[in-house]
Amino acid sequence: MWGGRFAGGFAEIMERINASIDVDRRFHDQDITASQAHAEMLVQQGIISQEDGAAIREGLEKVRHEIESGAFSFSAALEDIHMNVEARLTELIGAPAGRLHTARSRNDQVATDFRLWVRDALDALDGAVKDLQAALLDHAEAEAGTVMPGYTHLQAAQPVTFGHHMLAYVEMLGRDRGRLADCRRRLNESPLGAAALAGTSFPIDRGRTAQALGFDRPMANSLDAVSDRDFALEFLSAAAILSVHLSRFAEEMVLWCSDGFRFIALSDAFTTGSSIMPQKKNPDAAELVRGKSGRVIGDLNALLIVLKGLPLTYGKDMQEDKEPVFDAADTVMLCVTAMTGMVRDMRPNRDALREATAAGYLTATDLADWLVRVLGLPFREAHHITGSIVARAEALGQALADLPLAEMQAIEPRITAEVQSVLSVDSSVASRTSEGGTAPERVLAAAAMARQRFL
Ligand code: ARG
Repeated sequence: MWGGRFAGGFAEIMERINASIDVDRRFHDQDITASQAHAEMLVQQGIISQEDGAAIREGLEKVRHEIESGAFSFSAALEDIHMNVEARLTELIGAPAGRLHTARSRNDQVATDFRLWVRDALDALDGAVKDLQAALLDHAEAEAGTVMPGYTHLQAAQPVTFGHHMLAYVEMLGRDRGRLADCRRRLNESPLGAAALAGTSFPIDRGRTAQALGFDRPMANSLDAVSDRDFALEFLSAAAILSVHLSRFAEEMVLWCSDGFRFIALSDAFTTGSSIMPQKKNPDAAELVRGKSGRVIGDLNALLIVLKGLPLTYGKDMQEDKEPVFDAADTVMLCVTAMTGMVRDMRPNRDALREATAAGYLTATDLADWLVRVLGLPFREAHHITGSIVARAEALGQALADLPLAEMQAIEPRITAEVQSVLSVDSSVASRTSEGGTAPERVLAAAAMARQRFL
């Protein structure tokens, strides 16, 4: 493509380090679509003839078909997808192919193709995350009244409902989708027409190509247009945060499946057996979701580090931008989809969830609140008295709800039998009616709202 100035050929190792075709062939479709929009604009602006424009459009369509049908032979000697497509176009239509690259460079071309690819990936991911929210919402509604221990420090803290716990993830994923949407909004400007870096002397219409490719507008600065990879970084950081959320949930699933918890069961569809221990049912899919978050975080790091020292504008280092983005997109899509499968497969064990609320004095806060509300004690004093009552219950090996009234009165004589009404886990969750709280009626209302907001 640049033979004019070069006499010798590439060293074999140069070809290997230089070629990106095995990676960037993945956006052949975007490359062809963007080239067609460019050629169309060149015709409209009178920069190339109608006939050449038509030959280019049809030739590119043939190339697309060859690639899609598997008939195309990619060549590392032709470096990347842009030159592979153009070389084949030249074979197919001859001289007019040479006019396609007028007023364009591979620098604005690759930036355009990559943006289009990431935009599609964002849309696909958004749909997948939405499906996961839908699966969580089904459980949230079915288990709005299912009590379980809520934890801080992984110590049983207060009773909550399983449905409420599901809604926490619905919210996290909602923010993930917000980040994807933000990324899409900022990404959606067209670099095409920035040419190599400085713009072009041809009378192009950048608004026309931008519009044809579904961009909101052309990018304002040609130097920025060819050197910006913020969209890739934003995609990777949104993907990394999403995979961290998935990993936290996966970790809970692993815990919940374990013998210490038994809060949920996963079917054979999402577990594996052990080759030596016949009794085992391992939550491998959840473990892999947890593990794969490491790759996605690594992908973000990789690109941040590639870009950090690059002067304006394009540098070949930037060819390294695609692998982390493709890897993260594939990985996070796989993880979201596997999570959706597991959530749909998961059966909460209501008995085990309730049994777990018996230990840990989960309603101690309810007792303290009662002392404040009914006896008018300052909360700090109520906290202290409750601590003594819990210690007494612990010494007697009894749950708070079963502790005889006399034992409580020995510590605080003003306590009456009425206190017993707040010491059950069901009364505890039912009382948590504040906005965003765990009361079953609140959970049902929040789930209904979430359906409106997210689905
Ligand atoms: N394959 C290249 C990349 O992905 C395309 C741009 C090449 N530009 C250049 N000036 N050599 O970055």
